Amino acid sequence: MLQHLINPLVLGALTALASSLITMTAYRTVTLEQDQVVDFIVVGSGSAGSVVASRLSENPNWEVLVLEAGGQPPPESKVPAFAAYAIGADSEYNYNYIIAPQRHALLNFRNQESFFPRGKVIGGTSAINYMIFIRGNRKDFDTWAEMGNTGWDYDSIMPLYMKMENYKGKHAKKYAKYHSQTGPLSVESMRWDSPFTKYFKAAGKELGLEEVDFNSEKHVGYNAPDLTTNNGERQSASDAYLKPNLHRSNLRLQAGSLVTKVIIDRNLRAIGVEYIRDGKMRRAFARKEVILSAGAIDSPKLLLLSGIGPKQQLRTHGIHPIVDLKGVGQNLQDHVALPGLTWFITKNSGNAVQLILTPEARRAYRTKRNGPLSVPMGFVGIYMVNLGVDPDPSVQDVQYRFLSVTLGADFGLVVAPNYGYTDELIRDYVKKQGGRRGFMIFMGVMRPASRGSVTLRSKNPLDPPVIDPNFLSNSADVDSLLKSIRYVMVLGNTTALREGLGAKFFDQKVLGCKHLAHDSDDYWRCYIRHMAGSGAHPSSTCKMAPSSDPDGVVSPRLKVRGVAGLRVIDASIMPLITGTNLAAPTMMIGEKGASLIKEDWSYGD
Ligand SMILES: Cc1cc2nc3c(=O)[nH]c(=O)nc-3n(C[C@H](O)[C@H](O)[C@H](O)COP(=O)(O)OP(=O)(O)OC[C@H]3O[C@@H](n4cnc5c(N)ncnc54)[C@H](O)[C@@H]3O)c2cc1C
Ligand SMILES: *[C@@H]1O[C@H](CO)[C@@H](O)[C@H](O)[C@H]1NC(C)=O
Repeated sequence: MLQHLINPLVLGALTALASSLITMTAYRTVTLEQDQVVDFIVVGSGSAGSVVASRLSENPNWEVLVLEAGGQPPPESKVPAFAAYAIGADSEYNYNYIIAPQRHALLNFRNQESFFPRGKVIGGTSAINYMIFIRGNRKDFDTWAEMGNTGWDYDSIMPLYMKMENYKGKHAKKYAKYHSQTGPLSVESMRWDSPFTKYFKAAGKELGLEEVDFNSEKHVGYNAPDLTTNNGERQSASDAYLKPNLHRSNLRLQAGSLVTKVIIDRNLRAIGVEYIRDGKMRRAFARKEVILSAGAIDSPKLLLLSGIGPKQQLRTHGIHPIVDLKGVGQNLQDHVALPGLTWFITKNSGNAVQLILTPEARRAYRTKRNGPLSVPMGFVGIYMVNLGVDPDPSVQDVQYRFLSVTLGADFGLVVAPNYGYTDELIRDYVKKQGGRRGFMIFMGVMRPASRGSVTLRSKNPLDPPVIDPNFLSNSADVDSLLKSIRYVMVLGNTTALREGLGAKFFDQKVLGCKHLAHDSDDYWRCYIRHMAGSGAHPSSTCKMAPSSDPDGVVSPRLKVRGVAGLRVIDASIMPLITGTNLAAPTMMIGEKGASLIKEDWSYGD
């Protein structure tokens, strides 16, 4: 397909442009001998793994080894404006997963499938995400605790967020008690206001929303969110936690190492891992623990490949079951999303694509690390709203992202086909937006009701797993999106947007739904089933739960049931997805996991 020709060209151009703006310093990595023995092996250097490894290596007596499948991040990953491209680009920095054909959703997608980005690079998905930093609310974590996960309530985990953060943003004074300046992770406010920002804010105000710090206890409201950037460059979790500490003689990072299995001995203890590097099978051994931080898709996959999971599924693939654990890979949750309700505008300029290509943009970024290159391309701000899905009015159940581009800004050449829409839909709907000024409002369901799964395709570790989010299988999610659409229509028609920008909704009907009455509930339900897709936030596939819950995979101390010396520490342990973007809570899980390990091995902080 065309985008397979275009993607490498676009990526090549971005690499060249980024190289002229950024000085890269490589991560210090190692090449291990066969059968290396260390104290702790951490699988994956993503949002959680980087934090775990760095914190464990604070004990000089512990040898910590990180095995990462990916390699050095490219220069374009450092320039925030280019972040968005990662979502659709099949590249060597991505696992290039495709989700299984959906039964209840994705009706305007090729084969009812879609691209499902996950970072395969040092830093993992934190090296390809949008850098939005939002922690999650009190209720998210208090609910985890109510489910029997002692120690995970908001008041208990809040100090970990403070420990993470080196806050440099605009809320430092007004919201001082929610921020700290002593951690390794730089958090900044967006360093550039787009020409749309004031209209975005005025629209929120008009609807009675408050301008808030999403990382305080007020979540319903609007603002340009804080980002995990450092002086205007992306700071992935590994940039913040691993890179500055790789000089420690007890902390080693080996890249290009695809772990294929956890080695479990006769006493049901995890003693090491097998991995492939340079085409050769190798092993490494852990005296104390093996920690899976491979993310919500690959951590359950590794458990299954190691014989931990639903017995029947393992037998089907000829894997000897070591622990029959039915929850492994189940309970998959994602913030199902509707990407592109679109408004055309007659006032204001600022096509985001053109803006980042100007010499002024390059100069601003080179000299002051601000301007349109310093923020994710087209990103203006976030509204979080309670629409009554959650009975508590202080809790958001939808997140809207205001983007100053339309889906058709590239004439349907790259973004829409990468996401997975059919050629017919692109011709009939997306291309009609081409060449016109406008904005879109992306919406994600923060309290999804549908549950999916990650299962093995085969026992071959090189095969991608079967990822089935089962989007919209619970019609409550369609109801949530319908409510979200109704609200956003009012938002799009505020004086601020209607008169300020001359906004007019692009109301062409989509393929598959043309027979339904314009703007009826039935039309929108149809639109949702045809157009909604992944929010790129998989979680909860190795559910943390007390032993009384038969679906649990790890204990509240993140130990895998039935095996000693093995934990999962990443987004897969969330028993319930948080009502926010996942990177911040996942890094917090890394901090918490490391402190649990230190406690269990009697090493104080
Ligand atoms: C395009 C996109 C945009 C996003 N934007 C945001 C955002 O703006 N804000 C936000 O909060 N969240 C965002 N997210 C979500 C967030 O980034 C992720 O949920 C989070 O980073 C997940 O962290 P993790 O540690 O669980 O997994 P990851 O960060 O994915 O880490 C897993 C690591 O393990 C490695 N690995 C996997 N399998 C193996 C193996 N077998 N052997 C060795 N290594 C292995 C991977 O290469 C990777 O480095 C976004 C996600 C995507 C895809
Ligand atoms: C937008 O708001 C105006 C003014 O309140 C109103 O007259 C108009 O009908 C609204 N349009 C839509 C599409 O709701």
